[in-house]
Amino acid sequence: MATCIPREKSSREAKDTLRVLFVASECAPYAKTGGLGDVVAGLSKTLQQLGHDVRVLIPLYSLIDRTKYGLKPTTSACVHMGGSVEHWVGLQEARLDDAVPVWFLDYDAYFGRPGIYDGPFGHYQDNAYRFALLSKAALQVCKDQQWIPHVMHVHDWPGALVPVFLKTWERILSPLSNTASVMTIHNVGYPGVYHAGVLPYCGIGWEYFTRELFEDHGKANLLKAGIQFADALTTVSPTHAKEILDPVGGMGMAPYLNNRRADFFGILNGVDYSHWNPETDHHLPARYSAEDISGKAICKRALQEHFHLETTDKLPVFGIVSRFAHQKGFGLLREALPRALNSMLMQLVVLGNGDRDTENFFRWLQSAYPGRVGAHIGFSAEASHLIEAGSDFLLMPSLYEPCGLNQIYSLKYGTLPVVRATGGLDDTVQNYNEATGDGTGFKFWEPSSRALHYCIGWAVSTWFDRQQHIVKLRQRAMSQDFSWSKSAGQYIDVYQHALRKKQAATLG
Ligand code: ADP
Ligand code: GLC
Repeated sequence: MATCIPREKSSREAKDTLRVLFVASECAPYAKTGGLGDVVAGLSKTLQQLGHDVRVLIPLYSLIDRTKYGLKPTTSACVHMGGSVEHWVGLQEARLDDAVPVWFLDYDAYFGRPGIYDGPFGHYQDNAYRFALLSKAALQVCKDQQWIPHVMHVHDWPGALVPVFLKTWERILSPLSNTASVMTIHNVGYPGVYHAGVLPYCGIGWEYFTRELFEDHGKANLLKAGIQFADALTTVSPTHAKEILDPVGGMGMAPYLNNRRADFFGILNGVDYSHWNPETDHHLPARYSAEDISGKAICKRALQEHFHLETTDKLPVFGIVSRFAHQKGFGLLREALPRALNSMLMQLVVLGNGDRDTENFFRWLQSAYPGRVGAHIGFSAEASHLIEAGSDFLLMPSLYEPCGLNQIYSLKYGTLPVVRATGGLDDTVQNYNEATGDGTGFKFWEPSSRALHYCIGWAVSTWFDRQQHIVKLRQRAMSQDFSWSKSAGQYIDVYQHALRKKQAATLG
């Protein structure tokens, strides 16, 4: 893995304005299932604040509130797929936080559905086709608008065909021949493996259906192709970058990432503190800061009332805000939580949805521990902010975690993360030192329910036996700074790296 280019080396180049198009399936607040949406929004805004010309392209899902966000139709385009297939698409536009222009790809047959990736019967069967259209439209729209980006920055498998088209789609190449591509891998566990029929659909020849490029057990692996074609690659924390170069952590992608080591960088996600800050958070019943934390007790009481828990400041509240996915360690939680609730004085609130068994488990847990466990099965931005603020501890026992944003948000809210030391969780949480009271949270290493149980017990005993350390840990947690500006600088360095690669390839 390449280390990030030293700032001095590229500071002259970084002054130059770059045109950057983000191509993604999510962007908060319009459409989001997890941290990807937050990253697309926060990073694009920061790059613009640094003087770059950044735009974002996402699909116009029917869940997006066009009136609330002031979407305006701008233009239409004809996107040529493969053979004689063409799609006429519309384009609408809005400004993210009155700043970054966001383009919404309007194609009802693919995106006029309530879900982003899934409907009531699971994953949409045509996901590969939907996001292949998004990727091809990205190039077509830039060409039509005569807005030629220096870099197309694509996110996960839904954008992974952009680097492929930038190198193979001949009729579009002339205006975009100098455009470089950067692909960020947010989650290697979702590579986007689909029926190979997507290749002819979008005009990619069978000569690319090889083991090195697309082929994966007879199917097309979009992320793998992106890894091979992108000029530079990133993932969302330095530790996770090392993990996915390893055969176990790489989940099948390690050999291909190892081939691209020189162009692969781990950059920690940042936080948009204009949305995640207890001093200004409009979702909360009271605001607070490290200097005056009294409002946190009001948030805790409101949280307990909201989730029908006993209202007391004596018991510690543990919070969970999460997609219910295996990755997040719900197997461990399902074993550890009943034991913990039986043996420890604690409360628990859970917000999330996804895996049906996990949803049912938390419904059961709530009924088995009335007044001590509250569960909200669903998605609610409002409730997620209240949990970050009103809880005392945030549980994230992930089996793997590329970065994780909730634990970074919780630090700012003085809510101490209890995490498994993996990926970005390891990079962002400093383990509690019982002798000195230093640290920002509680870590465990072994991916077992036993280790999780002990770690919850460690947090609970610190709550009851060493309150002075809780105060100290909170102060330190709240003073951590994970704002986007540092990481955005590293992305600019990666964009420059990709541009140099592209230039060298064009000249060579
Ligand atoms: P991941 O992207 O793997 O889901 P992250 O920790 O990076 O994990 O980001 C999760 C983001 O999604 C956070 O902004 C979190 O608040 C949000 N989130 C997850 N589940 C829910 C939910 N059920 N309701 C509201 N927000 C949620
Ligand atoms: C992914 C990862 C998460 C990361 C997020 C944003 O979904 O699971 O760890 O924080 O993307 O990069």
